[in-house]
Amino acid sequence: MQRTLSLIKPDGVAKNIIGEIIKRFEGAGIRVVAMKKLHLSQKQAEGFYAVHKERPFFKSLTEFMTSGPIVAMVLEGEDVIAKNRKLMGATNFKEAEEGTIRREFATDIEKNVVHGSDAPETAAFEIAYFFSTMEIVG
Ligand code: CMP
Repeated sequence: MQRTLSLIKPDGVAKNIIGEIIKRFEGAGIRVVAMKKLHLSQKQAEGFYAVHKERPFFKSLTEFMTSGPIVAMVLEGEDVIAKNRKLMGATNFKEAEEGTIRREFATDIEKNVVHGSDAPETAAFEIAYFFSTMEIVG
């Protein structure tokens, strides 16, 4: 059993597709074991995306991530990191497979609706960034 962090980004929340996205997770046998809606501060967004701080898109990305509320979730299931990434589709929605969340709802490479941890180490950091142990109910 594995856990991963999923974020529904400000564009996904604004599109009113929180339920649609959760439905896809649950339909794939993934369980939501923690969830909260929050509005990140600039500092919080910068801390979350610290690995990207040298990238040219860092400022724009953190401004976008603070532009409205987001939904953070801990997902649990067998091989859930890879399963979630398959449901999301490629970062660039133009390269994402047909039927994926990003292919259907993203509007550009930055406004790509969802985020998902890419490895067990990043999942551990990202889950702890948003949730305390007591908030995760397996
Ligand atoms: P995410 O999975 O949240 O991880 C980093 C984010 O940076 C990515 O999704 C995109 O929203 C954003 N981003 C913006 N520009 C780029 C780019 N050129 N390459 C990769 N990610 C980008």
